[in-house]
Amino acid sequence: MATVHDEPVMASYPGQAMVPSPATIMHIHDESSTTRTYSLELDDASLRSRYTFRPGQFNMIYVFGVGEAAISLSGRPDDRRHLIHTVRRCGSVTAALNRMQVGGTVGIRGPFGHGWPLEQCRGRDVILISGGIGLAPIRPAVEQILSERNLYERVILIYGARSPADMLFQSDLAAWDARPDIETLFIVDYPAEGWTGPVGMVTDLVRRVRLRGEKAAVLVCGPRIMNRYVVWLLSRLNVPASHMFVSLERNMRCGVGRCGHCQYGPKFVCKDGPVFSYEAIRSIFGKEEV
Ligand SMILES: Cc1cc2nc3c(=O)[nH]c(=O)nc-3n(C[C@H](O)[C@H](O)[C@H](O)COP(=O)(O)OP(=O)(O)OC[C@H]3O[C@@H](n4cnc5c(N)ncnc54)[C@H](O)[C@@H]3O)c2cc1C
Ligand code: FES
Repeated sequence: MATVHDEPVMASYPGQAMVPSPATIMHIHDESSTTRTYSLELDDASLRSRYTFRPGQFNMIYVFGVGEAAISLSGRPDDRRHLIHTVRRCGSVTAALNRMQVGGTVGIRGPFGHGWPLEQCRGRDVILISGGIGLAPIRPAVEQILSERNLYERVILIYGARSPADMLFQSDLAAWDARPDIETLFIVDYPAEGWTGPVGMVTDLVRRVRLRGEKAAVLVCGPRIMNRYVVWLLSRLNVPASHMFVSLERNMRCGVGRCGHCQYGPKFVCKDGPVFSYEAIRSIFGKEEV
C-alpha cells in the first residue's frame, strides 16, 4: 500500500492542473437510493500508472457540458488502477453523473488538497467519526490504518446514517465490524425493521466510547452541524485541538488556490485543506460568514 509519506501524483500532465484528463466509468455500484460509487479508469495509460493519492484528498470530476464538482477519493490508496468516488446526487453535476452509465467518460483533475495527517495519529488512539457521505473520505483512512495497524493504539470507527438503507459501504462495514483490531459503532436517525443498533446522533456514540482524550487523535467528516457538535464534545473530553482533524466542505472551482471560491477566513479549503486541525481554524470554526 502507498504510505502516507508518498507524494501524490496528479491525473494531469505536468503544469496542467486545470486541464481535466478523460477517464472511463468502468463500474457503478448503488450504495443507496441517492448515492453511487463509481470506479473510474484514466484513459491515458501513463497517467494511470503514475496516479497516487492520500486518504482525505479529492478530485475535481468534470461532467462534460455540465460542470465540475469536488469529490473525495473513497477507494483504497494502494489501488493505482481505479479511481473510486462515492457521489450523492444533490445538484447539477452530481445529478448528471448519476444519469451516466458504465462506459461513459468524465474529466478528472487532482488529487488536490491535504489529506488526513495519519503520521500525526501514530502511537495514539485513533477515532474516525463520520456522518452520511462523510464516510467516503474516511474509508481510505480506515484502509490505510488497518494496513499499518501496529502503528496505532485503539482504532474506533463511529458512523451515523439517516437510516440503515442509507449506510454506505455495507460490506466493508460488516468486514470491519468482524475484525478484532477495530471497534465499530454505527447509529441511525430512523430505524427500520431488523435494525438492532442504536438510534440517535453520532455524538451519542462519542459519549459512549471511553476516550482517553489526551491520547486520542480524531478524524471528523460529516455535515457541518455534526462536525461542530463533535468538536465541541471532543474538546470537553480533553482531546487536544492539535489532534482533532476536520474535513471541511466549501464550494470549489479551481481546486488549486487560484479562484478564491473556497475561501475560509485567511485560508483556501482546496489548497490548505480540506482537512484542518481544529487548532488551525479554532477562531473561525462554526462561523457561517467567514
Ligand atoms: C473537499 C470536498 C470533498 C467532497 N467529497 C464529496 C464526495 O465524496 N461525495 C459527494 O457526494 N460530495 C462531495 N463533496 C460535495 C460536493 O462537491 C458538492 O455537493 C457539490 O456542490 C456537488 O455539485 P453539484 O453541481 O451536484 O451540486 P450544486 O449544484 O453545487 O448543489 C449543491 C447543494 O447546494 C444546493 N444548491 C444548489 N444551488 C443552490 C441555490 N441557488 N441556493 C441554495 N442551495 C443551492 C443543492 O440543493 C445542493 O444541496 C465534497 C466537497 C468538498 C469540498
Ligand atoms: S477552489 Fe479556487 S481557490 Fe479553492
